[in-house]
Amino acid sequence: MAETAQQPLVLVSNRGPVTFDTDGSISRGTGGLVTALTGLASHRRATWIASAMGRGDADRARAAGGRAFSVDSPSGGSYDVRLVVSDEVAYERFYSIFANPMLWFIQHYLWDQSNAPDIRSHEVEAYEYGYKLVNQDLADAVVEEIDGASEPVVMVHDYHLYLVPQMVRERRPDAFLHHFVHIPWSQSDSWRVLPTKIRDELYRGILANDIVGFHTRSYRRNFLQCCEDLLELEVDHDQGVVRIDDREVWVRAYPLPIDAKATRAVSRRARVREFEDELLRRRRDFLILRVDRADLSKNVLRGFSAFDLFLEQHPEFRERVTFMAQLMPSRTDVPEYREYLERIEALVAVVNHRHGTPDWMPIQLKLRDDVEEAMAAYRHYDVHIVNAMFDGMNLVAKEGPIVNERDGVSILSENTGAHEELGEFALTVNPFDVQALANAIHRALTMSVEEREHRAEGLRGIITLRDPGDWIDEQLADVRRKAAGAAAVDLG
Ligand code: G6P
Repeated sequence: MAETAQQPLVLVSNRGPVTFDTDGSISRGTGGLVTALTGLASHRRATWIASAMGRGDADRARAAGGRAFSVDSPSGGSYDVRLVVSDEVAYERFYSIFANPMLWFIQHYLWDQSNAPDIRSHEVEAYEYGYKLVNQDLADAVVEEIDGASEPVVMVHDYHLYLVPQMVRERRPDAFLHHFVHIPWSQSDSWRVLPTKIRDELYRGILANDIVGFHTRSYRRNFLQCCEDLLELEVDHDQGVVRIDDREVWVRAYPLPIDAKATRAVSRRARVREFEDELLRRRRDFLILRVDRADLSKNVLRGFSAFDLFLEQHPEFRERVTFMAQLMPSRTDVPEYREYLERIEALVAVVNHRHGTPDWMPIQLKLRDDVEEAMAAYRHYDVHIVNAMFDGMNLVAKEGPIVNERDGVSILSENTGAHEELGEFALTVNPFDVQALANAIHRALTMSVEEREHRAEGLRGIITLRDPGDWIDEQLADVRRKAAGAAAVDLG
């Protein structure tokens, strides 16, 4: 295979780096995947193929004649983006029924299985005439994009596109296919929610890759176990290899780092200062912070319940502490997400009513996507809570500590991807144990200066050890090794 460092890469994901409004204005896509891929695409020559997600995107795609066009990266450099327009009804079935919630809920253990999901024609059709079609549209774009390139490298991303690799493999057996999954890989029984045919197709789709990557060793182990349990495939757990149809699929963990320099640069913007001034004017003795997409996996409700409990058990902290929650509304076309937002607002009202006073609101809820406002809060928190029930990486757990200026304490759920790296210096909580979280809040707020310093320093050290360039290089090194025919070795 040709040297990948010189070769153009093709990246494929559902959400692209930017979204176009119908008036042509641009906004940046949100979520961990976009953050990761923006780094990747601006580090090397790459064409990023993504779904056109609204009318503005579709207009932009048509204006480009369905071809790739250049976009400037906010962190410097530029890359080519190709937006793929799918049938509107098919896309809605793909995104709002099958990918979210069906797959997302399975992979985050969110189904309340005695009640949901019911698998009926609605769900099966969402798979057959939604998920499959959108995957096919993106696969077609990939095949067109790599036409003429010999032994191209295609990097597919996330749970929206499990079928793309097989669709590409059928037409380009010479392509090197790499898939990174940004969310947890749940244990085998959770997948039994899906009808066997659908499940098998999804697994065969992703197993058409040469390499499958995850954020943690634990997701890698789960994936290998699933291949054994659900498909009865031959698996080498030590080497992280699945054998299927005379091929080997390497399964690897590449924890995603953040770009500390770029994140700190954002935190120094003038607009951040304005938010800081305001925040410092209203600041009580202590600030507790959470920053998340308003997603069910993030466990927002238990976070507020724990704060409620903490205030009840430690009345000496009343009027001295504020819990600021910046939540970006997400997937509001999916009913489960809309309801979740309503429940969040209702609980905040209850807690504020129970403990608040005429000039103190215990929880300050900000339902908006404003990176600069979040940065201002990152700089000044005393406690940062990331209590997700189960979650892929949780980049916020890495962003907070490198921007924070007060040696703030991180409270971190043991089921977040970031915990595998940061657990040692965080206060670890079981995300379901509300009392444990209330205790952790108290412990964080009463911790000695020395311990805070020690923990904060430890977190910063780990977070800055690797950067997104390393993440990409680690993956490309494996691509080169495998393409050159190297044997898999024990992962240790
Ligand atoms: C997570 C997923 C991404 C997704 C992001 C935002 O980080 O892993 O694939 O893009 O959430 O969700 P959205 O549905 O808005 O793209």
